[in-house]
Amino acid sequence: MSIKNICCIGAGYVGGPTMTMIAAQCADIIVNVVDINEKRIAAWNDSNTDNIPIYEPGLSELVKKTRGKNLFFSTEVDQAIQDADMIFISVNTPTKTYGVGKGMAADLKYIELCARQIAAVATTDKIIVEKSTLPVRTAEALKRILDNTGNGVNFDILSNPEFLAEGTAVSDLLNPDRVLIGGEETDRGRLAQQALVDVYSNWVPKEQILTTNVWSSELSKLTANAFLAQRVSSINALSELCEVTEADVNEVARAIGADSRIGSKFLKASVGFGGSCFQKDILNLVYISKSYGLHEVADYWEQVIIMNDHQKRRFARKIVQTLFNTVSGKKITLLGWAFKKDTNDTRESAAIYVADYLLSEQAELVIYDPKVTEEQVYSDLDYLGTRSEGENRRLVKVLNSPYEAMDKAHAIAVLTEWDEFKTLNWNDIFDSMLKPAFLFDGRSVLDHKKLNAIGFDNYVIGKGPC
Ligand code: UDX
Ligand code: ADP
Repeated sequence: MSIKNICCIGAGYVGGPTMTMIAAQCADIIVNVVDINEKRIAAWNDSNTDNIPIYEPGLSELVKKTRGKNLFFSTEVDQAIQDADMIFISVNTPTKTYGVGKGMAADLKYIELCARQIAAVATTDKIIVEKSTLPVRTAEALKRILDNTGNGVNFDILSNPEFLAEGTAVSDLLNPDRVLIGGEETDRGRLAQQALVDVYSNWVPKEQILTTNVWSSELSKLTANAFLAQRVSSINALSELCEVTEADVNEVARAIGADSRIGSKFLKASVGFGGSCFQKDILNLVYISKSYGLHEVADYWEQVIIMNDHQKRRFARKIVQTLFNTVSGKKITLLGWAFKKDTNDTRESAAIYVADYLLSEQAELVIYDPKVTEEQVYSDLDYLGTRSEGENRRLVKVLNSPYEAMDKAHAIAVLTEWDEFKTLNWNDIFDSMLKPAFLFDGRSVLDHKKLNAIGFDNYVIGKGPC
């Protein structure tokens, strides 16, 4: 079976870039990306592709090349479902904030709504692809809903988890380490799986396309993220030990990463990992393990999160301690709000938690991030619910100029590793700050020898005062 028309429900960080790449690589497939969020769809359709809602290097150019040819963004969900041979579900699956599994399990309400809508609308057979990260065995629930609510058409369910990392989405999609496609072990299941293999084969070498059963695919996604997050928590645990022993975590990371069995990636100490996946997926893994009575397995993975929370808190506490144990009324500038560089995504960003801690100590914060809007910063802080919206706006300013943001500040904290922070004019910044001028580098990205020479009092994660 050859796919001619694809619908993707959900025009977010996963659906948007993935569908743009499929459209760019498969000129004979029509790709309709639909979303209920009208504002988001309008932004995807903005005549200036620099205004698309997601910032990813190279994405705007790719949208410009494909949009209106075989790539379309719209809010016409029913029509797109009708027309499609294959439907990707790329809606959000946040951690539940209510009821059973609150704070741990994935909230599947958006997935279920999609399934019900597909079942109600579809009049021809469809292949349904789970793209969102889902707890293992979600396909079973999905199939039940589709088969029981639908009007007699056949649905084949595939799991095709996304391994792209934000900030490098375009290159990850273009040259993926692997594409994983889980399918049912039946004749129909195998045909559906092959149809999706054929789509990716347009640009991904065959040997990099792995096919498995649905459950292995679902679980692999959760555990790949858990393993990556575990490496970050491992190096972050070492960062604290380095700070008290005068070892330098970057040197330790280089030394252990040179062992080919360990490898050098994902060993960068930081103020803590963020993003929409790591915490959510591990919590999910912990919840699933607990629900099978596997308490030791659950505790093992939960420690990765505990370490991450500790790292964020410890960094914020260090700022307060260094500023003579009080930051009340002091101006502290946060450089970076996104959870990592080259993205405007702020979900679970360490910056949010560091800011919250400092605000609870009555600091006055000024935020500068090259790609995050003022509206987003306030919405992240309001969502925490620690203080009123009015107070957040009184205590926090978001500025477009890094120099203005640091003018007369007591301290600066680097929370995202944006490249442009390295090339700021640090001499001018030092001159404009109150003295002693403190700088806390939560990403270990700046040249601290140079900063010391200027006169800054530095604290570097994994190295301590220097
Ligand atoms: C992750 C996975 O990498 C990707 O495969 C999956 O599909 C989705 O989740 P993403 O969340 O976009 O991608 O970002 P990633 O690059 O994995 O970084 C996650 C967090 O870990 C970031 O906050 C990053 O700054 C932090 N990190 C990463 C470190 O602190 N140190 C490192 O060495 C690597
Ligand atoms: P991700 O990082 O997983 O892509 P996002 O939150 O960026 O997550 O994107 C998910 C998108 O899915 C949102 O834009 C949201 O509006 C959309 N969405 C959620 N439920 C539905 C639905 N039932 N129909 C269409 N779109 C939906």
